[in-house]
Amino acid sequence: MKYKERSERGRWGSKIAFILAASGSAIGLGNIWRFPMVVGQNGGAVFVFVYILSVVLIGFTVMLAELTIGRHTQKNPVGAIEHIKPRSPWKGIGFLGILTGICILSFYSVVAGWAAGYLIKTVSGAFRGNITGEIADKIFTEFSSNPLQVLLLFLLVIGITAFIISKGVKGGIERWTKVLMPILFLLIIFLAIRALTLPGAEKGISFYLKPDFSKLNGTVILFALGQAFFSLSLGMGTMITYGSYISKTDNLVSSAGWVCFSDTLIAILAGIIIFPTLFAIPGVEPTAGTGLVFKVFPLIFSKIPGGQIFGTLFFTLLLVAAITSTISLLEVPVAYLVDERNWSRKKAAFLMGSISFLIGIPSVLSSGGLRFFTKIDFMGWMNFFFGNVALAFGAFLICFFLAYVWGVKKAIGEITLGDIRFKMWPLWTFSVKFFTPIAIIIILIFIRTIAG
Ligand code: PHE
Repeated sequence: MKYKERSERGRWGSKIAFILAASGSAIGLGNIWRFPMVVGQNGGAVFVFVYILSVVLIGFTVMLAELTIGRHTQKNPVGAIEHIKPRSPWKGIGFLGILTGICILSFYSVVAGWAAGYLIKTVSGAFRGNITGEIADKIFTEFSSNPLQVLLLFLLVIGITAFIISKGVKGGIERWTKVLMPILFLLIIFLAIRALTLPGAEKGISFYLKPDFSKLNGTVILFALGQAFFSLSLGMGTMITYGSYISKTDNLVSSAGWVCFSDTLIAILAGIIIFPTLFAIPGVEPTAGTGLVFKVFPLIFSKIPGGQIFGTLFFTLLLVAAITSTISLLEVPVAYLVDERNWSRKKAAFLMGSISFLIGIPSVLSSGGLRFFTKIDFMGWMNFFFGNVALAFGAFLICFFLAYVWGVKKAIGEITLGDIRFKMWPLWTFSVKFFTPIAIIIILIFIRTIAG
């Protein structure tokens, strides 16, 4: 009855509260900013196709693995591994997750800061009038290369994140996501319908949803898989940590399924907002990269009636989605300090937030400002290395650890506490033991070929 003794560390109020919080972690800039960006850069629909396969075949497997380890041990990633295999080097998986979390948080919060800046711009009417592609481009370049402004917005995002985390699981994360996630769903569906009704939307839809398989190559597969881990918050122990707050009687399989489903749905809907409008109103290329979302939206909003309201809704949504994810990134290192080192949540949140802020400064500067940093695309590098390579490697280690160190039988024992039948067990066993780790290793080899 270990989990009862530890219940003072926090517990989700209900299964639905967990699904909302975990979807809040999964749904974020990864869906709305990063997904359209990588779709645009990697051939459109063919990327979407491989992405969906990655979520179903690999993402779900890793999601269930992380939730199972988390709930079984009721611990943060380091403590969880220590619990299963005491005093072993496998604990390194947990530390890798903590490092990855701090590093992703560092550049992620800079982009979230951009969203905050664009919200302020939209509310103050900066995008009223006839905005052309060139103007939207100029506005983004000027904005993102003003280091002081971006630094302040970045600090604001980290500050809000640390504040929510310092309030703890029920008081902080759960209260926020319960209110914010449903609003997010409604807003995004609303905007997607609006985008689909723009004249000329069909071209965008066919770029986005009609795959051209001649564009399929190693890079597409690699980025699609990396994006799946990033978007589902997998490979760094976020879902181990969130899983540790799930009650023993909840069904982990259906919870994992719901999180994968809602995350993928939002990413697909985000693309339905971006691509039809991108093709309906020319001026920005699908390959625009980091600035894609920030360049396309003001352009659209200036061309449709009620644009300022749509714009305000959209950037609010983006910021909300980003913050429910930043809190999950910061929760991993904080849960470690609270559980393993007996720190107070406040002190842990402040320290980890500050470290992430310092690491993020070169990312702020890499979009302009100091020329010294612009030569090295620091943010792009962090995004690639921690957002693809480190997560993929982490996911591989987590599966390997579950399958060959802990044992699939024991994991299935944990899963059946809340799902007595667990009909999918043969499939999941095959995936976690063979398919997923082997597929990830192949991706990592592709990464080496591309980086080299
Ligand atoms: N999944 C989040 C998003 O899509 C980002 C994230 C990655 C959060 C890894 C936690 C862990 O925005």
